[in-house]
Amino acid sequence: IYSLSTVEPQNLPAVFVQFVEKYGNIFTIRIFGGRTVVINSYKFVKEALVQQGDDLIDRPTVPLFEDLFGNEGLVISNGYPWKQQRRFALHTLRNFGLGKKNLELYIQQECQYLSEAFTEHQGKPFNVQLLINNAVSNIICCLVFGNRFEYTDQQYQSILHNFNEVMRLQGSMSTQMYNIIPWLMKWLPGPHKTMFTLTQVIKDFIDIRIKDHKETLNPASPRDYIDAFLIEMAKNEENDSSFSLSTLHACTMDLFFAGTETTTTTLRWGLLYMIYYPDI
Ligand code: HEM
Repeated sequence: IYSLSTVEPQNLPAVFVQFVEKYGNIFTIRIFGGRTVVINSYKFVKEALVQQGDDLIDRPTVPLFEDLFGNEGLVISNGYPWKQQRRFALHTLRNFGLGKKNLELYIQQECQYLSEAFTEHQGKPFNVQLLINNAVSNIICCLVFGNRFEYTDQQYQSILHNFNEVMRLQGSMSTQMYNIIPWLMKWLPGPHKTMFTLTQVIKDFIDIRIKDHKETLNPASPRDYIDAFLIEMAKNEENDSSFSLSTLHACTMDLFFAGTETTTTTLRWGLLYMIYYPDI
């Protein structure tokens, strides 16, 4: 579903506007063979996403994500496994402080480290993006891994760099082509291949953390999301649930991707606005 109401008017493909005039507020187009339903106007978007939300809840299969993450986890999964993992993630993250005072303490502490790191630059120009990215991801790390990483930690810096590269490469032409003709692109070189290499490094990094957690797990006292997941996995060993090691990998990665980029970008824009409009 491509919802026109959520797109800025100047970014609307002109042809879509013509189609709305000709065919009305709901129409179907084929983009490279794939069927896309365009829904326009608040009334119809609300009907589709809210009133009939359960019928339209599934996500399309994206070939690149399927090959990178096997359609598991939170962000690209579907059906019952998605529901189960979403419920578990919300419940567990709340238990570990999301929206509560103890997470606020972590955040305040991280703000302290961040402003100290800003001060070290003594007023000279520097790229705030990298530091904000590290600070934001540290909050997610506290929830997921149970610890933060120093801004000077070279290995962690390279993981963050890989994350940002993966996000950037997702928008590249060769990645878009991969989603249209995966069978051909699999054999061709290009930035889409780099995404596989970078993602593997991140997967290895997460793998080490999961192994550490397994070795030091105390089921009576879960420390973070990974511990809680491992406990749930043990409980569900006998049945056919979505609690598996590969889902744990995918969910950890999703929390990282979904939480870090979004919050970093929001904070960066917030800072830029405050600099530009100091009277706010
Ligand atoms: C300013 C910060 C954030 C913004 C603007 C933002 C925005 C969004 C949006 C627009 C969606 C799609 C919702 C949908 O399609 O239904 C989403 C989904 C998601 N976000 Fe965020 N997000 C933010 C912070 C976070 C954080 C901090 C985390 C995790 C720690 C997170 C984890 C997720 C996950 C796991 C999903 C997929 C949920 C699902 O499919 O059920 N997000 N976010």
